[in-house]
Amino acid sequence: MEIKPINSYDAMSKLAAKIVAGQIINKPKTVLGFATGSTPLSMYRELVKLYKKSKLDFSKVTTFNLDEYLGLSPEHPQSYHYYMYENFFKYVNIREENIHIPKGNAEDPVQECLDYEKEIEKIGGIDLQILGIGINGHVGFNEPDINLEAKTHVIQLSDDTITTNSRFFKNLDEVPKKAITMGMATIMRSKKIILMAWGAEKKKPILKVISGHIATEVPASLLQLHNDVILIVDKKIYPSSIVTDPLFYPDKI
Ligand code: PGA
Repeated sequence: MEIKPINSYDAMSKLAAKIVAGQIINKPKTVLGFATGSTPLSMYRELVKLYKKSKLDFSKVTTFNLDEYLGLSPEHPQSYHYYMYENFFKYVNIREENIHIPKGNAEDPVQECLDYEKEIEKIGGIDLQILGIGINGHVGFNEPDINLEAKTHVIQLSDDTITTNSRFFKNLDEVPKKAITMGMATIMRSKKIILMAWGAEKKKPILKVISGHIATEVPASLLQLHNDVILIVDKKIYPSSIVTDPLFYPDKI
């Protein structure tokens, strides 16, 4: 894992956007995996700036989003579909037919998962996947559990996630209790992954991700099995001792 401790949210977003832009320039027909939430918000703004100022061309790019709430229509303001269009897609020259987001209101969600996974396979997998991390260590909506699902699937959201995400809804009851998410294998098959973490509440999960221990109770810890992950992380939550101590384990602090 290549670790890049960073001083500001702004710098994290700019660095992630620069890596995404580099990927598109090197391979215009690239397949990107996108995430939602607070973490990548400014990265999308940076990419829009690069499109407007530097003519970064999205016309051949294909995207697959990590997840979507089950039961929300694309027009719902809290759907990830809405988030992606409002924060990114409507400002750049990406082709509508190249955008993929799981349908939260699919009539048959299980079939939707199978179709979504097939689409990713058909195109040859994801070249560069963007990830945030939940305070419980989830990636996408792969929640901590003794068993994880490999492929795109319907998942019951954990109480932690429902509570954390209720900040975007009127109240707890309005938060969907299920979602569609890429599975850990879907994510791990990406050729390159950028994991971003900003803010004190991400310290605990991030320490587990770089701990050398792998546990399905911290789904993001599986990323240690991938050979091309860049972790862009808030310097304040990343103990500098880790950089120099190959025997570091978080339980030591
Ligand atoms: P956040 O969410 O970016 O809003 O912190 C991350 C996640 O839950 O995966």
